[in-house]
Amino acid sequence: MIDRSMVNPTKRDLVSIEDLSTEEILELFHHADEFRANLRAWSDVCRGTIMATLFFEPSTRTRLSFESAMLRLGGGVITAADEKNTSRSKGESLADTVRVVGGSYADILVVRHPEDGAARVAARYARVPVINGGDGAHEHPTQTLCDLYTLWKEKGRLEGLEVVLCGDLRYSRTIHSFCYALARFRANIVTMPYPGFELPDYVLHRLRRDFGVQAAAASVSDLPGIAGSSNAAAYLTASRPHQLALFTNLTNVEVNRIDAIYMTRAQRERHTGQDTTNYPRLSRSTLRAAAAKDASVMHPLPRVDEIDYDVDDDPRSIYFRQAELGVPMRMALMAFLMGKIQLRASPPLLLSVAPGMTAGAGIRCRNERCITNNEGVRYLVADFRLRDAEVPPVLSCAYCERETEARFVGHLEARTVHRYNEPEARQIAAEHRVYFESEAQAAAAGFRGSAL
Ligand code: NCD
Repeated sequence: MIDRSMVNPTKRDLVSIEDLSTEEILELFHHADEFRANLRAWSDVCRGTIMATLFFEPSTRTRLSFESAMLRLGGGVITAADEKNTSRSKGESLADTVRVVGGSYADILVVRHPEDGAARVAARYARVPVINGGDGAHEHPTQTLCDLYTLWKEKGRLEGLEVVLCGDLRYSRTIHSFCYALARFRANIVTMPYPGFELPDYVLHRLRRDFGVQAAAASVSDLPGIAGSSNAAAYLTASRPHQLALFTNLTNVEVNRIDAIYMTRAQRERHTGQDTTNYPRLSRSTLRAAAAKDASVMHPLPRVDEIDYDVDDDPRSIYFRQAELGVPMRMALMAFLMGKIQLRASPPLLLSVAPGMTAGAGIRCRNERCITNNEGVRYLVADFRLRDAEVPPVLSCAYCERETEARFVGHLEARTVHRYNEPEARQIAAEHRVYFESEAQAAAAGFRGSAL
């Protein structure tokens, strides 16, 4: 169990891109600009501070740019760069590791881990700020900050941009964080997944619920190398209805002006046996398309084969810039989380690490990759948030955000259970409610009722 007395209620973590308000993100861009103007002039900002990088998965850019950023701010760095050399290989839990390292060893932690939701576990158990350096296929919020910062500098704005996301949209954590941020800036997203690697439903639901994003089929026919490999292009937009009316046929939006194409590699370490023979490949001929005339080419890197090397010289290619700007962007983020710079902007209303409804969920997370179903089985209690606007009730895992429909509502004390739409269910006070997915689940937990 989490020892709540250890958790500092005023610390800020970056677990999800939702942990920063839009205004905070924009203000951090300006600080990043200042840091970037002379990267070597800031060695007093975090003097005496120690950052620990705990990387339980491979990394080049993320870890090294964090370490460079902290060294440029005048702080020190300790690192566990290979899980084989850590006590994880002996069976130590992430919770125990961050309790120790985020105590007297370090003042800020950057964590990368293969399980979805791991960064939330780290943030809950560490006394010091935790930054998510990528947790499974879930989120990678600092890559999104770098992506947004690069795009903002390139285009001068983020609002209303037309951004194509191409390749493995299912397992790319960079894509998920980027989608939420793009939706917040009211950019329009064109998804061009490699078949079988579509954007997960839980991401689409969240885009619809939290940002009013609607999906329509899209045609982007003249992008050789990338359009043909995807027969499921979709247009995701949060435009107001009167703007939507501009599209003659909403079921098929013709995209003929693209501001950015974001390529991703197939995340082979997260799936087995899926054929990627015809995976999309961006080449010079893709960029000759009329729609791509002003399209910046983006990639979180590492690139495998998704972008031809002879595209590197094209002025529209900005993927190495994304990596370069990672240092000033991460300097700004860490200076902020360490309280060395103050932002005028207000934080988001609800930080993602806030506790959910531990007692009220009789279910387990459906995501087999979630940390609660892996190393957390030993010590984590299921924790869900109720997305109350939904009927039937939808609970989302407080760690990995995967959603589950809870069609049965039980009474915690009376141990009775009812279908969510029965009057008896509605009469149960919020603090007595326990949600279940199925009758069998409720019965197994000892709940009985008219519905059973
Ligand atoms: C990404 C990651 O680790 O998710 N890399 C990165 O941090 N820049 C993208 C990837 O590995 O494909």
